[in-house]
Amino acid sequence: MNIDFSGRVIVVAGGTGGLGRAVSLAFLGESAKVTVTYRKEAEFRELKDSAGQTASSLEGREIDVTDEDATAEFINGIIARHGSLDVLVNTVGGYAGGVKFWDMKTNVLDQMLALNLRSGYALARAAMPAMLKAGHGSIVNVAAKAALDHAAGAAAYAASKSAALTLMDSLAADAKGTGVRVNSILPSIIDTAANRLAMPDSDFATWPKPQDIAQVVLFLCSDLAKTIHGAAVPVYGNA
Ligand SMILES: NC(=O)c1ccc[n+]([C@@H]2O[C@H](COP(=O)([O-])OP(=O)(O)OC[C@H]3O[C@@H](n4cnc5c(N)ncnc54)[C@H](OP(=O)(O)O)[C@@H]3O)[C@@H](O)[C@H]2O)c1
Repeated sequence: MNIDFSGRVIVVAGGTGGLGRAVSLAFLGESAKVTVTYRKEAEFRELKDSAGQTASSLEGREIDVTDEDATAEFINGIIARHGSLDVLVNTVGGYAGGVKFWDMKTNVLDQMLALNLRSGYALARAAMPAMLKAGHGSIVNVAAKAALDHAAGAAAYAASKSAALTLMDSLAADAKGTGVRVNSILPSIIDTAANRLAMPDSDFATWPKPQDIAQVVLFLCSDLAKTIHGAAVPVYGNA
């Protein structure tokens, strides 16, 4: 399978995170121009180091992507600089759980909605005008298995991921026939450093690797997936 992103302009929100990092490096490996959002300068520097010879195609910006104005300014800046925006991948998100609904603090619901719903909303709102004008583009939003499978102890998380999936489904319906494709992926658990620390006794071998999920994202964003629009792709592996 040959996926070539030569010269394509890609934004990976949360591109220094556990999954975002792998997605960013995979796009760079296919000759794309990648801009990531980050929150910690040190994590961006680390990504830059990992990018090796492709580091010159990597840019980064410290930004809160739940802030709609800041996000619009960021995306417009990329379009002004590069002349287009071909791909938007949103890997920003967060988890809160282990608490019964009636014990949950209300601010946790607000946090989950901001991280898991508002991030994708602000980013897609900012990207869509230019993509519609160009008549092409691809958006992949990272939801979660919890969007469909609502386990105990994570009501706010599940609700926010479910809403994120619904948002992208509705956006896909709006974008039908425009040349802009919108899809979601649904990880269950990912083999990230943070998860290994949090669950040291787990069998890491069963957890999908960020690099493997990144390949699914690249496929969805590539012309090979031109018939895939409005999908929610499970990336559970054997987890
Ligand atoms: N890891 C899993 O097992 C798993 C399972 C199912 C779904 N997912 C979903 O997959 C996606 C990626 O997960 P991950 O494990 O890679 O998460 P992660 O390592 O926490 O990466 C997310 C990145 O987004 C950044 N971020 C957080 N809030 C932000 C904001 N307001 N504006 C800009 N950036 C922000 C984080 O920065 P900080 O590090 O500074 O917070 C981090 O760099 C998320 O949507 C997550 O919910 C993950």
